[in-house]
Amino acid sequence: MIHHLVQLAYVAASVLFIFSLHWMNDPKTARNGVISGVIAMLLAIVATWIQPEVVHHGWIAIALAAGVVVGVPLSRVPLTAVPQRTAISHAFGGLAAGLVGTAKYYLWVSEGPEQLTAFRMGAIVLEIILGYLTFTGSILAAGKLQGVSWIPQRPVTYPLQNVCNIALLGAAVAMGAYLVMEPTGPMAGMFFPAIIGLALLFGILLIIPIGGADMPTVISILNSYAGLSAVAMGFVLDNKLLIIAGALDGSSGLILSVIMCRAMNRSFANVLFGAFGQVQVAAAGSDDRVYKSETVEGAAQVLEQASLVVIIPGYGMAVAQAQHRVHELYEQLTKRGITVKFAIHPVAGRMPGHMNVLLAEADVPYSDLVEMDEINPDMPQCDVALVIGANDVVNPAAHSMKGSPIYGMPIVEADKAKTVFAIKRSKNPGFAGIDNDLYFQDNTFMLFGDAKAVVGDLVKQLSRGGGGH
Ligand code: TAP
Repeated sequence: MIHHLVQLAYVAASVLFIFSLHWMNDPKTARNGVISGVIAMLLAIVATWIQPEVVHHGWIAIALAAGVVVGVPLSRVPLTAVPQRTAISHAFGGLAAGLVGTAKYYLWVSEGPEQLTAFRMGAIVLEIILGYLTFTGSILAAGKLQGVSWIPQRPVTYPLQNVCNIALLGAAVAMGAYLVMEPTGPMAGMFFPAIIGLALLFGILLIIPIGGADMPTVISILNSYAGLSAVAMGFVLDNKLLIIAGALDGSSGLILSVIMCRAMNRSFANVLFGAFGQVQVAAAGSDDRVYKSETVEGAAQVLEQASLVVIIPGYGMAVAQAQHRVHELYEQLTKRGITVKFAIHPVAGRMPGHMNVLLAEADVPYSDLVEMDEINPDMPQCDVALVIGANDVVNPAAHSMKGSPIYGMPIVEADKAKTVFAIKRSKNPGFAGIDNDLYFQDNTFMLFGDAKAVVGDLVKQLSRGGGGH
């Protein structure tokens, strides 16, 4: 009876997980997506816990308490730190899969090696390789994104790097193949921990040559590895819900990586093996050209005369938490009959959907957020492009400068607008570490300062001028 109930709960949880992902597709239903995901996870935990085979309730309670202690602070990180927070979650997922695979192997070796069928052993090998490499790879990726001082932020490369990595992985797979054939053979006692060691090392070696703008894509790839290790764990534990949830996790991570690669016009192989970002530091700060600045009063006057204003937000808007001021600016302009659109670049900010989340939080109507590909044909008709803390995503070098680290990345074509105002605090470059020709164009004027303060001043200036033509 209880087993039937458990299976029923697993089916319900699987359906809820699928709906959860589906609802996440649209901001209007995203909240439902979160709630159904939480209910599904709760169902999964309770249904697993009530099974009669589970006897060590104390340990489960301790693990749950530890999860709460770690999880609650993790849920409170600022939005700008979400990519590294996500990486830490993947690290925990990978470690859990690796530990379960290790425990199951030694348990079966001691209690009944005949249970270690070739299929189960294959699943365990896959689980520990993927689990442990996800663990170290994700910790390193989180450290890089957080800017931890002793972790090199830029790609670290050395001769024959890819050959070494592939040889290492090949050695782990070869030892794994031996274990599949001889789970308790004479070499098994040595090979099993060796595979774990190689997987831990491989995770680090996989991530050190990657840096710069490729980190979010890598986080997403690690997400899919964590999902795949959960699938393998599902086969080891004979748990269908784990197989389904892991497959959903693995495939959604893979799909997101592909979307992000497309948004940056880069191939998967290039992200993983290309050591992107090496040239970034050298390219920055080499420019002595002079910027033209504009006052808030002057910018407000030009904005008031415009018919179409396109606001291009970027990472700086997130840092300044300027989204509420930006909404006020939107209201000031629209009440004058000016059309205001937001151009959303797929990798603006530091995580997928970063700008959408911030603008939705500030109640900017979703219908006025326009994807890069849709807004670009309208940019020549745009009277004012207002760039708020965006840099790489409007850098024309992506079109014109072969050899630039962002060459080939599609951009929001702010350079085509009649007038460009760019809000940033200094002459510092953006994430890719390179100068931006947009700021030196004849029709570009800088509004130097913190985005929240400058947009706030623009709003004040416009509200003094009253509304309506
Ligand atoms: P960035 O190129 O990083 O430029 C952000 C600009 O904002 C900087 O030039 C900075 O200039 C300015 N800024 C920072 N704080 C500010 C503040 N308080 N007020 C005003 N301006 C401020 O951002 P982007 O254009 O959004 O491009 C995103 C980049 O990050 C891309 O290279 C992308 O590949 C990469 N990336 C994306 C993601 C995802 S998935 N979205 C994840 C990781 C990395 P100042 O310092 O002079 O103010």
